Amino acid sequence: MRLHARGVALVSSLGVLLAAGGTTVGSAQESHVDGVTGHAAAGKKVYRRYCMLCHGPDGDGAGENAMWIDPKPRDFTLAVFKCRSTPTGTLPTDEDLLNAMSRGFVTTNMPPWLPLSRQNRADVVAYIKTFSPKWKTKTAGTPVPVPPEPALTIQSILHGRDLYQKMECWKCHGSKGHGDGPSAATLTDNKDLPIRPYDFSSGSRFKCGITNRDLYKIFMTGLDGTPMPSFADDIKPEEGWDLVHFLRTLQPLDTPELALWRGWFASHAGELKPIGPGTGQ
Ligand code: HEC
Ligand code: HEC
Repeated sequence: MRLHARGVALVSSLGVLLAAGGTTVGSAQESHVDGVTGHAAAGKKVYRRYCMLCHGPDGDGAGENAMWIDPKPRDFTLAVFKCRSTPTGTLPTDEDLLNAMSRGFVTTNMPPWLPLSRQNRADVVAYIKTFSPKWKTKTAGTPVPVPPEPALTIQSILHGRDLYQKMECWKCHGSKGHGDGPSAATLTDNKDLPIRPYDFSSGSRFKCGITNRDLYKIFMTGLDGTPMPSFADDIKPEEGWDLVHFLRTLQPLDTPELALWRGWFASHAGELKPIGPGTGQ
């Protein structure tokens, strides 16, 4: 039985290898991450065992468990993804997909899949890319450049605060970042389902990562399929770090940004205009 199953796996991966011989890199049947090549045929087995009950046999997000889950599992037939290093509206890189599935989606039913081997994860990424024809006609977008993080200063935080006002983040995320801005209650995703803005005061990790670099990418690429837009056209690359520094002060976490902010705020609170409609415009 065991031997037989291994035989089948060998034959099918051989088949993929042969078929891949004539195709170019980036073929929809493969993924390439850090020297590991994932094969869709092998990924299909991983998918059917671990992913299908939520994401559905056809990848459309309508698995048996989907009705019980909110937010709903991703519909891979649309090839629209939240966590990308690439510009809004473009396909993510294989690495983006592998990172997203390995990390899982905090505060949702999407588990972290780190227990699966890197090969298994690369294989299932290749398989996910067979559900939408977009992967046959388009390649992944070019990752948005992230300049090195400058030193943290109070000026940087204050400028980030101005951007939070000017870019109207508060309309959704609220003037204090509690996820309760004037637009918050009315937002829906690309499937017309209600969606809430992130609440910075929850202190929760972000869906798309934990580092300052991840945070930078979140608002410079947007979470596609949600009302969370990309600000790459409006925020200059170096200014992006100012916004990162300010956003960290909204989270009740042990960060250098919050420590610096608290110290400054204790003696300067009166100098600040409140964030929200009709101020600072
Ligand atoms: C228990 C249900 C469940 C299982 C099992 C599950 N997922 Fe998910 N998955 C979700 C949900 C729910 C989301 C959407 C989260 C969100 O939109 O915030 C999601 C989202 C995703 C995304 C979207 C990433 C992005 O950036 O938009 C990928 C990729 C993904 N899952 C891959 C997988 C893979 C691969 C497996 C199997 C190894 C798997 N999932 C198993 C529930 C599940
Ligand atoms: C039109 C409403 C809207 C505006 C404007 C908006 N956001 Fe969002 N934002 C959202 C929604 C909705 C989510 C939640 C997406 C999800 O959970 O899938 C979100 C999520 C986030 C997250 C968490 C992402 C993650 O990975 O969990 C961050 C950080 C964020 N927004 C920052 C910003 C910043 C900074 C601005 C302004 C420059 C901004 N947002 C403007 C609606 C908005």
